[in-house]
Amino acid sequence: MNFPMFHLDWLNDRFLIAMIAILHVFINHGLAVGFIPYITRLEQQGVSRSASNQITDLEWDAMVHKMMKVGFIITTTLGAMTGVGIWLSVSIVSPASISSLIRVFYWAWFTEWLVFVTEVVLILIYFLTWKNSNKTLKSKLLHIRFGWFLSIFSWITMAIIVSILSFMMDPGNWNTHHSLLNGYTNPIYLPQLCFRTPTAMLVAGVFGYLLTTIFTKKNTLIRERAVKQSAIWVLCWAPLSLAGAIVYYRVLPQAMLDNLSTAVGTLQFAQYYETLKYFIIGAISTVLVIGLFGYFNPKKVRLGMVLIPCLFAFGFLGIFERVREFIRKPYVIAGYMYSNLLRVEDYPLYKRDGILKYATYNSTPVITETNKVEAGRNVFILACSRCHTTQGINSIVGVFENMYGAGKPFDESSIAVFTKNMHNGRTFMPEFPGNDKELAALAAYIKHLQQTGDVIEGAQNEGVTINPLQSSDAVVQLMADQEKAAADSAAKTNSAASK
Ligand code: HEC
Repeated sequence: MNFPMFHLDWLNDRFLIAMIAILHVFINHGLAVGFIPYITRLEQQGVSRSASNQITDLEWDAMVHKMMKVGFIITTTLGAMTGVGIWLSVSIVSPASISSLIRVFYWAWFTEWLVFVTEVVLILIYFLTWKNSNKTLKSKLLHIRFGWFLSIFSWITMAIIVSILSFMMDPGNWNTHHSLLNGYTNPIYLPQLCFRTPTAMLVAGVFGYLLTTIFTKKNTLIRERAVKQSAIWVLCWAPLSLAGAIVYYRVLPQAMLDNLSTAVGTLQFAQYYETLKYFIIGAISTVLVIGLFGYFNPKKVRLGMVLIPCLFAFGFLGIFERVREFIRKPYVIAGYMYSNLLRVEDYPLYKRDGILKYATYNSTPVITETNKVEAGRNVFILACSRCHTTQGINSIVGVFENMYGAGKPFDESSIAVFTKNMHNGRTFMPEFPGNDKELAALAAYIKHLQQTGDVIEGAQNEGVTINPLQSSDAVVQLMADQEKAAADSAAKTNSAASK
C-alpha cells in the first residue's frame, strides 16, 4: 500500500525471490553449514592417521584442501552474492513484510550481521592459511581449531535466520504480545532447526562424497578411504535428518498441511501428490543406498553413481524450500499480514471503503464508468500481483481460462463471484480485500486482459502516480479546509456569545 509495486510480468515476483533464495540455501547448507565441519573432520583425520614422523598425511591433506577450494570459491562469490540478492529481491517485491520483520527482528539481524562478518573473516583465514599451517604440528592443530570455529559461526548464522523463517509460518505468542523474545521463540523454530541442521550435514556430505570421486583416481587407496569416510558421514546424518523431518512435520498446523498438495505439485498436478510424494522419498533413498554402497564397497564407487543421489539431495532441499514458502499462504506472516502485503487487522476498513482510497501509489482513488479498467488494473496490482502475472507464469488470464475453458470469452460476473469467494475453496489465497465496486472493476480488467493480451509494467519501468487524495496539494487543501471550518465555527460561537 505504501510502496510502489515492483512487478515482473513474465517471470512472476515470487519466482524471482525463490530462484535467488533457493540457490542461496544450496550454497549455505551444502557448501558452508554442513560442508565446513565435514572438511574439518577430514583434515583432522589427515593428522590423526599420518605416520608418527609426519604432521599430516600430505596426499590426503592436498585432496581435502582442493575440496575446500571449491567450497571457498563458491561461498565467497555466488554464496555472498545470492545472500545480498535475497535482500534486494525481498525488499522490492515484498517491502511491507520485510519492513515489519526488520522491526521485530532488529537485534537478531544485527547480531546475524556481526556473526556473518566473523564467518567471512574466519573462512578467509581458514582457507588462505591452509598451506602455511602444514609447517608445524602446532599450527596445523590451530588451523583445525579455526575450522571448528568457522563451523560454529556458520551454524549460528543459520540458526538466527531459521527463527525468522519459522516466525513467518507461525509467530506464536507474538501475535498477542509483540516482543523479540516471543517472535524468536516461535513454535516452529526448534523443530525446523532440528531438521535443517542434519539435513545441511547430509547434503554437504553427499556433495563432498562427489568431490572425493573427482579429486582422487580410480582404484587408489586414498579414493577408497575418502569414499568410506564420506559414506560414514552420510549414513550418520541421514537418520537424524529423517527424524528432524518428522519432528518438523508434526508441528505444522493443519491449514499448512492442507496446502501441501498444491505446494508440491501446483494445482494442475495436485492429484498426483501421493505419487510425487513417493517419488521424492524414493529419490532421497538413493542417498542412503550410495552411503551403504560406499561403506561396504568403496572400491567400486564411481563419479556417475554419486552424481545422481547428489542431484536428488539438492533437489530435495529445493523442494523443501518451495514447500515451506508456499504452505504458510495466504499469509506472508501468519495471522498478521497476508501475502498481498495487506495487514489482517486493516481488512475491515478496506472492505468497507475499498483499497484504492488508501493506496499511496494509485491513479484512481475513485472508480468511475470511464476509469473502470484502469481502476481494475490498480486493484489487480494491489490484490493479486504478488502471486499472479497478467500473461506470464501463473497468469491471471491462464488461471481463469483453466477454469472456464481456454479462449472462451470471460464473463465478468462469474469472475467477480469466484473472486469474492476464492479464499474459501482455495485457502492459499487471501480473501479479496476491496469492496464490490473494486471487484467489478477487477473483473472488467481481467476480461480486458483476455481480449487485448495486454501486459502490466511494474513501477520500476512505468514510474509511479501518487494517489491524488494523498498528494501534497490534496493535503494542503485539506488543511486549508479544516482551518477555514475552525475559523467559521469560532466566528459563530463569538457572534452567539456577543448576542
Ligand atoms: C498469495 C498468493 C496469491 C494471491 C494474492 C492471489 N492468488 Fe490466485 N492463486 C494463487 C496460487 C498459488 C494459485 C494456484 C496456481 C496453481 O497451482 O496452478 C492460484 C490460483 C488462482 C485461480 C485458479 C483457481 C482454480 O481453482 O483453478 C484463480 C481464478 C485465481 N488464483 C485468482 C486470483 C485473483 C483474482 C487474485 C486477486 C484478487 C488472486 N488470485 C490472488 C496464489 C495467489
